[in-house]
Amino acid sequence: MQGLYLLLTVLFCTCFGVHRENFRTCDQSSFCKRHRNLPPGNSDYVVQPSTLKLSKTFLTVNVLNTKNNIGFLLHVYGLKDKIFRVKLVEAQPIRHRYEIPIGVTLVAEPDQEELVYNGESDGQLKFSLGDSQMIINTSPLRLDFLINNEPVTSLNAQGLLKFEHTQEKSAEELEKINNLHSSLNSSDSNIDAIKREERPGWFSSRVSSVFSLISQPFRASKEEAEEGADNDAEAENEAEKPAEDDQDEGMWEETFKGFTDSKPNGPVSVGVDVAFPGFRYVYGIPEHADSFALKNTQSTDPYRMYNLDVFEYELYNPMALYGHIPFMVAHNEKHTVGVFFHNAAEGWIDIRSNMADKSVFSNLADFVTGNNDVPQTDTHWIFEDGIIDIFVLMGPEPKDVFRQYGSLTGNTPLPPLWAIAYHQCRWNYNDQDDVRTVDLTMDKFDIPFDVLWLDIEHTDGKKYFTWDVTRFDNSVEMLRNLSSKGRKMVTIVDPHLKRDDNYEKYTQARNQGLLVKNKDGNDFDGWCWPGSSSWPDFLEPQVREWWADQFSLDNYKGSAHNLYVWNDMNEPSVFNSPEITFPKDVRHLSGVENREVHNIYGMLVHQATWDGLLKRSNYKERPFVLTRAFFAGSQRSGAVWTGDNMGEWSHLKMTIPMMLSLNLAGIHFSGADIGGFFKNPDSELIARWYQAAVFQPFFRAHAHIDTKRREPYLLPEEHMVVARDAIKKRYSYLPYWYLLFYLSETTGMPPMRSLWMEFPSETSIFERDDEFMTGNAILVKPVTEEGQTSVSVYFPGNNVIWYDIESYEVYQGQQEKTVQAPLSKLPAFQKGGTIIPRKMRGRRSASLTHNDPITLIVCLDKHGKAEGQVYVDDYHSYEYREGAYALSNLVFHNFKLENNIIHKGNGFTTKEWIERIIVAGVHTDPKNIHLVKADHSKTTLSHTYDGQAKVLTIRKPGVNVAEKWIVNLH
Ligand code: NOJ
Repeated sequence: MQGLYLLLTVLFCTCFGVHRENFRTCDQSSFCKRHRNLPPGNSDYVVQPSTLKLSKTFLTVNVLNTKNNIGFLLHVYGLKDKIFRVKLVEAQPIRHRYEIPIGVTLVAEPDQEELVYNGESDGQLKFSLGDSQMIINTSPLRLDFLINNEPVTSLNAQGLLKFEHTQEKSAEELEKINNLHSSLNSSDSNIDAIKREERPGWFSSRVSSVFSLISQPFRASKEEAEEGADNDAEAENEAEKPAEDDQDEGMWEETFKGFTDSKPNGPVSVGVDVAFPGFRYVYGIPEHADSFALKNTQSTDPYRMYNLDVFEYELYNPMALYGHIPFMVAHNEKHTVGVFFHNAAEGWIDIRSNMADKSVFSNLADFVTGNNDVPQTDTHWIFEDGIIDIFVLMGPEPKDVFRQYGSLTGNTPLPPLWAIAYHQCRWNYNDQDDVRTVDLTMDKFDIPFDVLWLDIEHTDGKKYFTWDVTRFDNSVEMLRNLSSKGRKMVTIVDPHLKRDDNYEKYTQARNQGLLVKNKDGNDFDGWCWPGSSSWPDFLEPQVREWWADQFSLDNYKGSAHNLYVWNDMNEPSVFNSPEITFPKDVRHLSGVENREVHNIYGMLVHQATWDGLLKRSNYKERPFVLTRAFFAGSQRSGAVWTGDNMGEWSHLKMTIPMMLSLNLAGIHFSGADIGGFFKNPDSELIARWYQAAVFQPFFRAHAHIDTKRREPYLLPEEHMVVARDAIKKRYSYLPYWYLLFYLSETTGMPPMRSLWMEFPSETSIFERDDEFMTGNAILVKPVTEEGQTSVSVYFPGNNVIWYDIESYEVYQGQQEKTVQAPLSKLPAFQKGGTIIPRKMRGRRSASLTHNDPITLIVCLDKHGKAEGQVYVDDYHSYEYREGAYALSNLVFHNFKLENNIIHKGNGFTTKEWIERIIVAGVHTDPKNIHLVKADHSKTTLSHTYDGQAKVLTIRKPGVNVAEKWIVNLH
């Protein structure tokens, strides 16, 4: 087996690299091709206004495809906080179409808000939702969304709406496929399986339970259900017998690289265009290794969204990667809006974004007539299955869109402090001695770290939840040793189960009927690291519960409370299958095909693992689980990394746009492998990578099994020192990082932000993705080129001043400046007007810093003011959710720094005190500095003043961070 495994490793990881031909292009995917080939023009879909039904918060109206007389129901909901939800479903599907259940992507049924009907005129039905408007143009169907009467989004403006209705396979089609098969002399039994009545028993017996599961989300009320029924009846009357749709190769069966997709349900795709009038730039829809501002796809494939394990992925192309989030944000100097397409099937998105194209898609001309300078972005969304279910988030500012998206799919829960510190990983740490040596050597070199990771080799033959006892004979002791320094361990647990009768997790899952099936109804058998494997069906709640239970200390023998988890290969990765994942006609236990749900599988693995760790601690400790595959909502169960990147400068550079895009789409706790996974990067690149990652959310070094060892202490002295300084810098900024994660959970604001998120009206920075902001205070321009010793930094913000975080040298806003960046320097700048908490004491791990004192860095703006916050709690439990934390607001103005407590509750106390206050931008040396406490006691504080740098350092205020106090400068 080891031999086989090595062969697979070599085959997939080392020799071949990315093979584009392993992955479909749009042209090789019949549904994508059918939609992409539609010419823009008048849509075949018309609204039947006489069928309009209104309730307080939603409307329902019939829509007819005039080409084939198929009837549809359009539902539009007004939701809280300026969100519209648009659903288009078949009026009379012959088969239920998958809708993602509540709790998977959406945290709950969204709260509704009054949708006011303003009447019909000139073929338009007009509605308002607060200060937003929606117009339904009836013939043809087009939905326009406006903020204060200015259009910001439009659905079906180009007339590309196409909803393939459910059909039975015709006798003619069956015969065609039969003939094809017999001519190929095939013994394939696909043809039988595609006839519904002949499907295996396990399918039909489960069909009714699927229907009840999936019919819930939008049957919001009884009233609505009744209206829907009425509408069904009307649609039946109005829709004549369906005309034949255009038939096309690949609608009923499709072959790719020798694999045949049996397509039992035939063509069931949906697609529609979404236009953003007035917007030149759109962002989001991760994960792609591409620029942050999405590119025109006219001469490439559309951006693809299909969770795949793409080895050695290429940069700057729209190919799919490990996870996807169908959420796009459009931004201009006036507005920020978002569109979330709630669909779990494979998707493709075309983008046309420039002025010249506008005339081609001139359906919006009535909005913008006579003004050729108004930009527009037209996008075209195509999904293989499911329904049309679109949320339009009306912003109008970046922070509003993030809050709105978070209200739908949830926010990132505050991680334990140790999880945002430094993680040391590689494939693999070989045995307990190796672990011990790394642990001790990091200490010897005075390099802090919090977590040591074990990859797949630690298991007994890739059977997860086990240990290779020849190398890890006493894992509990190993874990205890780490724990003595406050350290943790993460082990890998992939979702494939080795098909081995002696492997308990597999036999349990098999015997209890928890495994995903192939199209013929047998347990699906595919290849992954252990060889022949099967996969639990994480779509089923009881399977997720079973999985979660495996993480109890009883079930995961040799584990301990300081062991956390890494879910990899959960797209899922299947080595011997089309596109290295499940075949599309693989069946889930509920009867749905993987085609319908592919992109949520990995997220459900992640959620189940998260639940397992929660359960293990009796819901007291915050879990940590890293995942490779993800979808909208994955932010609720921990961290995501960008998979198998390369140790190349271009990949270091790519970390910025990739993480900006993940952060924009709610995946805030994200990072890239420091140093790059594949290849042997030189030590300069490794050192620069550590620097760049200091200000990126998830901070982990990782490397492929075939690479040379590269723990930071192994670097040549010159580079070791740089890497160590970077790691120490990360630790010193942990109080700021922690605050940003607290704000992420409570406000939905991403910790890592593009420049426009902080400076929304500065048009010149809309495309910029070589710099970024960490929170609202730190601007970062990492060095991403070999041998570079200076960088050109754009400092945004009219009237803003920026301070170098080391020297406090000042830079004026709205200018591009060359900044020296010798190897030792990480170019980062604190914004004038902000206050940041740091901890400057060197410790071996973050867990040892909980009570350490805080240094405040106050950078004054042009008016001598600054503001910031400090958030403290116990750093590991959920008690903060019961109010056991302190949050204070620091304000500097009129030569006075005030600490105002916003919250201190539930008996919470902390020992953290203020050790030092550094104030940059002070123009005269103050004569006296006094500390005044809440009890009015007054103490004189000592200070030093650097007249050249204009930096004042106030020593030892010695006051508690969770108390009210004032420092006066005279
Ligand atoms: C693929 C993952 O992306 C990588 O990080 C990991 O080291 C290998 N699988 C082995 O588990």
